[in-house]
Amino acid sequence: MEYEKIKNDIKQILSEKRYTHSLGVAKKAEELAKIHGINEKKAKIVGLAHDIAKEMSKEEAYKYATENGIEFDEIEKLNPKLLHSKLGADICKKKYNFTKEMQDAIKYHTTGNVKMDKLAKIIFIADKTEENREYEGLEEIIQISKKDIDEAVLYICCRGVKRNLDKKVIIHPDTINLINKILIDRM
Ligand SMILES: [Fe+2]
Ligand SMILES: [Fe+2]
Repeated sequence: MEYEKIKNDIKQILSEKRYTHSLGVAKKAEELAKIHGINEKKAKIVGLAHDIAKEMSKEEAYKYATENGIEFDEIEKLNPKLLHSKLGADICKKKYNFTKEMQDAIKYHTTGNVKMDKLAKIIFIADKTEENREYEGLEEIIQISKKDIDEAVLYICCRGVKRNLDKKVIIHPDTINLINKILIDRM
């Protein structure tokens, strides 16, 4: 079964902490998929695999990107934490035959993107609300995510942007564009 195969693979690749986080995201994604009426098995598998490339070193990440024709934008180059999304999507395509939709959900899970569909939004939310997370306001986001996916995405993006501004960390324009899109769609 694909889920068990990926689970075994990431257990080898990732630290215990990130492996536990991945299991948490799989569980939360499955739960949100059920509530919001999308394929639960698919959401669970994507959630499990979303951070598959997270612990690659910068050197490994660039080597993989060069060998596989993946290009990073300027902001991604300045913030190596962002590299794992595109790489993870490509790895899952090649290793597990993930569909374009599943790849995109991984690709967009860190910054968000205006092109996110329901699956991508669920993975994005699950990543930030899985059971091993702990931060102020978490319970509120969990409650919102059960009723309104877009509102939960908006909440998470705004919180992230605020934190980056406070710490004077670069903000990826995809996050700002997503905030604007959700707000404009409501007008
Ligand atoms: Fe991630
Ligand atoms: Fe994650």
